[in-house]
Amino acid sequence: MKTILIAAQKGGAGKTTLCRNLSVAASMDGQKVLCLDLDPQGSLRGWWESREAETPAMLDRDPHPHALRPTLDAAKGQFDLCIIDTPPAAPEWLSEALSAADLVMIPVRPSPDDLRAVGATIAAVNTAKVPFAFALSQTPRARITEEAARVLAQHGRVAPVNIAQRVAYAETGATGQGVSETTDDKAGAEIAAVWDFVKGILNG
Ligand SMILES: Nc1ncnc2c1ncn2[C@@H]1O[C@H](COP(=O)(O)OP(=O)(O)OP(=O)(O)O)[C@@H](O)[C@H]1O
Ligand SMILES: [Mg+2]
Repeated sequence: MKTILIAAQKGGAGKTTLCRNLSVAASMDGQKVLCLDLDPQGSLRGWWESREAETPAMLDRDPHPHALRPTLDAAKGQFDLCIIDTPPAAPEWLSEALSAADLVMIPVRPSPDDLRAVGATIAAVNTAKVPFAFALSQTPRARITEEAARVLAQHGRVAPVNIAQRVAYAETGATGQGVSETTDDKAGAEIAAVWDFVKGILNG
């Protein structure tokens, strides 16, 4: 089983949205996916509870972050992939959770404030010596998006397709769907491309 942890200290960066959509895309690709919600806000679980499909899976209760490793060990036989959502800011357990992951995905909005804030997350993943990649999130079609990609590329890999600002991402937070399950083909194609990129890193 591979483990992807989604992290960004900046609130609203798009962590939960990435978690929801990657977990649906991976499930549609035939992987047995377990989602864990380590954010006390419970946004991922709220989405999952309004979901009709049976996959991805969640546990009856999410583990305490300090009990993440035993939870992952127990999930190994049953799942191919575990995708973990985390809260904003930097909880004291963050470095422990980062080091339990095979890959950390960092969503970043293309704004100067977000780019400034991502430095703390980059420092944390580098200290944990865990592979990581960025995904630009909530992007407008504007030069600021290309500039952000260029800045991020100096620090690590950047998903080749951006997650654009689209109503489908927000709406599916309420319907329990992934955008891949809606009629928004552009959003679906973006997520398929990000999943392909993530899979390439995990298998590489
Ligand atoms: N690509 C997008 N297009 C449109 N709306 C989006 C997109 N991504 C996220 N949003 C919306 O922006 C808000 C923040 O996104 P999300 O909850 O995924 O961020 P987060 O990093 O998990 O936030 P928090 O730090 O509070 O956990 C949500 O209302 C979500 O629906
Ligand atoms: Mg969230």
